[in-house]
This record gives sequence, structure tokens and C-alpha cells, in this order.
Amino acid sequence: MADCVKAMVDAVAVPVTVKHRIGIDKSESYEFVRDFVGAVSEAGCKTFIVHARNAWLKGLSPKQNREVPPLRYEQVHRLKHDFPHLRFSINGGFTRDEQVTQHLRLLDGVMVGREAYHNPWWLSRWDECFFGEAPSNLTREEVEIAMCDYMVREAAEHGTGWPTIARHMLGLRHGLAGARRWRQVWSDHQLKALPPHEVMAIAHAPQAQAA
Ligand SMILES: Cc1cc2nc3c(=O)[nH]c(=O)nc-3n(C[C@H](O)[C@H](O)[C@H](O)COP(=O)(O)O)c2cc1C
Repeated sequence: MADCVKAMVDAVAVPVTVKHRIGIDKSESYEFVRDFVGAVSEAGCKTFIVHARNAWLKGLSPKQNREVPPLRYEQVHRLKHDFPHLRFSINGGFTRDEQVTQHLRLLDGVMVGREAYHNPWWLSRWDECFFGEAPSNLTREEVEIAMCDYMVREAAEHGTGWPTIARHMLGLRHGLAGARRWRQVWSDHQLKALPPHEVMAIAHAPQAQAA
């Protein structure tokens, strides 16, 4: 790994970062991950994103590997303590503001994976909560309109069909009444010849009229 990182650092002008886990299979040795970070940082990586679980290479699928190995956040805090000059972002299992706030007190960043995808509206408060910006007045509908504009542009410029883009915004109304039907409309490939703004209108139409 250190050789790979060194080769990348020598070849590019941007920072090279490494995302890694805290161990392999059932080994809980802190020294293993500490020595890994030590060697890779000497090769020129200064920023580490640490998924705070072991990778069980034997017997678990990639999906199970995101859920089954226990989270051990304290290992990441220990790394920051031992390598204060390096930057560490923590990753794994975060779904709430309080968790992010707590870890940002001691670490340089928090990486969110699945929750950002399944519930992207959570991110809409982050600039205000964590970066001191004014509250955003954007509504989900305004974001959806901006996405429709983007779909129109991508179709014109690259011939991309809107379903390719829409599938990644299906979490936008997560937790709201009617979200299921809204998702069904935006997932309906039979509508793919319609312009995106019309699909949006159908997705928001009262159910009785749209049926
Ligand atoms: C569908 C999917 C694909 C992923 N692919 C990668 C990948 O290619 N490389 C990687 O480092 N992590 C990958 N991950 C893991 C995430 O980056 C993250 O480490 C993991 O989901 C734990 O964070 P979370 O609990 O916030 O989701 C993937 C996760 C998902 C759900």
C-alpha cells in the first residue's frame, strides 16, 4: 500500500487520500492499523478516511461487511491521538446530527455513506449546523425542479435519459407522506418519453386524479 501511495503521490499534484478499515477478519489489534497508517503516511498520504469496522474477508459478502463487523469508533480517535499531524475522517453508521457534532469535536471530518443516499435531505441542514452558514430556505420541491432542469440539460448535451439521473434522487422525500407513490412515478420507465418537469407534475398530482 505504501508503495502504491508513493507512486500516486509522485505522479499527481492533488492530495492522495486513503480510505481504509481498522483491521482484517477478527483481529482487534490496534497496532496493526496504527502501523498501517504510519507506513502509508510516510509514503505521503496525510488524510485518512477510516470506516471504523474490520473487513471480514472470510465468510461475509460486501453488503454484510457494511453491517456485521462491529463499529469501534474509539480506534479512530486513538489514531488521531497518536498522529495529531494527520487528518482523520470517521465513517460508519452515522444517521444523526448529534453523532456528527460529537466526532467533529476531536476529528477532522465525518463521512456519511448510505444515509446520505437514502435520506439526502438530512444534508440540507449541514452548512447551517456545521459550517456556520445562514439557514437554507430551499424546499425539496425547489431541489426537485433543479434536478429536472439538470435532466433536461443532460438529455440535450449527452442524450442521457432522465431515469438514469432520477434513480439517484429517490430518497429525496424520505419520511414524508406520499413518498412511496412519488418514488413509484420517478421509477416508472414507461414515462421515460415524457419531459422531466411533466413527470414531476405527475409525481405530485393528487392520487385520485393521477390514477
Ligand atoms: C452500494 C455501496 C457501494 C459501496 N462501494 C464502495 C467502494 O467502492 N469503496 C469504498 O471504499 N466503500 C464503498 N462503500 C462503503 C461506503 O463508502 C461506506 O464506507 C460504508 O457504507 C459505511 O458508511 P455508512 O454506514 O455511512 O454507509 C459502498 C457502500 C455502498 C452502500
